[in-house]
Amino acid sequence: MLPDPTDQTKLVLFSASTIPFHFIPFQFNRKRSHMTCLVVGASGATGRLLVEQLLSRGLSVRAIVRSLDRLPPAMAEHPNLDLIPASVSQASDSELADFVRDCDAVASCLGHNLTFQGLFGSPRRLVTDTTQRLCNAIMSRPTSSKPCDRPYTDRPHTGHRDTDGSELDQPKQPARFVLMNTAGNSNRDLNEPVSFAHHCVIGLLRYGLPPHADNEAAADFLRTAIGQNHSSVEWAVVRPDTLIDESEVSEYDLHTSPTRDAIFNAGKTSRINVAHLMADLIVNDAIWSRWQGQMPVIYNRE
Ligand SMILES: NC(=O)c1ccc[n+]([C@@H]2O[C@H](COP(=O)([O-])OP(=O)(O)OC[C@H]3O[C@@H](n4cnc5c(N)ncnc54)[C@H](OP(=O)(O)O)[C@@H]3O)[C@@H](O)[C@H]2O)c1
Repeated sequence: MLPDPTDQTKLVLFSASTIPFHFIPFQFNRKRSHMTCLVVGASGATGRLLVEQLLSRGLSVRAIVRSLDRLPPAMAEHPNLDLIPASVSQASDSELADFVRDCDAVASCLGHNLTFQGLFGSPRRLVTDTTQRLCNAIMSRPTSSKPCDRPYTDRPHTGHRDTDGSELDQPKQPARFVLMNTAGNSNRDLNEPVSFAHHCVIGLLRYGLPPHADNEAAADFLRTAIGQNHSSVEWAVVRPDTLIDESEVSEYDLHTSPTRDAIFNAGKTSRINVAHLMADLIVNDAIWSRWQGQMPVIYNRE
C-alpha cells in the first residue's frame, strides 16, 4: 500500500558538524504535482520504495526497469507512473535523451546485483557510466533563454506554459540529480579522517571489489565534473550505512560526514528512510538547499 500523501506531520532530525541540531518540519511544496522525476534502479529494494515515496507526494514518475515483474502490481498500475522497459546500461544516447526529456529530477538507486556476474562482470562502471550519461543527456537539453529567479517549486514545470504563453518543453531550472551511494565512500571535498585500518580495507575493496570503486567514481563525477555551480545539473549524493529493511519511515539523522566507521563500527539505515530522504531532496526546497552539492550520511536514529 502506498504511504498516505496527506501525512505532513513527520519531523526529521538533522545534525551536521557545524550546526548541531536542526528540526525541519516535513512539508510539501506547491506545484509538486507538476514535477516529473526519472528513477533508475527503480526495481531494486530501495528504488521501489523511492518510486512509492515520489508517487505519494504527487509527482509523475518515469521509471526504467529491466523487468516489469520486479515491481508490485499495485504500483505498476499507478496512473502517475510511466514504466520504461529497458536496461539503462544498454540504452543509447538518444534513448537517454528521451528518458530525461522534461524531467525536473533524476534519482539513481542503481547497484550491482549481488551475484558473481553482478559484482565482477560487465558493466563494471554501471553506476558511474549511468550517472555520467544521464547528466550528459540533461546537459544536452535545450535550455530556456530566460533565467528564472523564483523558488524551485514556484517555477514553471513540465507541461506548463511560460509567461509569454509558449509551451515549456524543458524545465527552466537545473535538474536535481540524487544519487544513492554508500557511507563507505568519502566526500573528498571535505576532510573525512579514517583510521589506518579503514584506509587499508577501503584500498583493498577499491581494487578487489568493482562495485565499491564504481560508487566512488560516480560520486567523484558529480563532485568534480559537475561541481557546485553547474547551470543544468545540481546534485546530492546520499550515503546510507548498512542497509536494512523496515516497513515504515522512522526518525533518522543526517550528517555532513560519517560519524561512525563504516567498516569497523557500521550504523544502520533503513532503505525506506533512504527513499524518504531522496524524495524529500527532490521536492523540498529547504532540504535541497541544505544538502545540494553535498554527500549527506544517513543513519537510523538509535
Ligand atoms: N547493501 C548495503 O548494506 C549497502 C549499504 C550502503 C549502500 N549501498 C548501495 O545501495 C545501492 C542500492 O542498494 P539496493 O539494496 O537498493 O540495491 P538492489 O536491490 O540490488 O537494486 C539494484 C538495482 O540496480 C539495477 N541493476 C543492477 N545491475 C544492472 C544493470 N547491469 N543494468 C541495469 N540495471 C541494473 C537492478 O535492476 P534489476 O532489478 O533488473 O536487477 C536494481 O533495480 C547500491 O549502490 C549499493 O552499493 C548498499
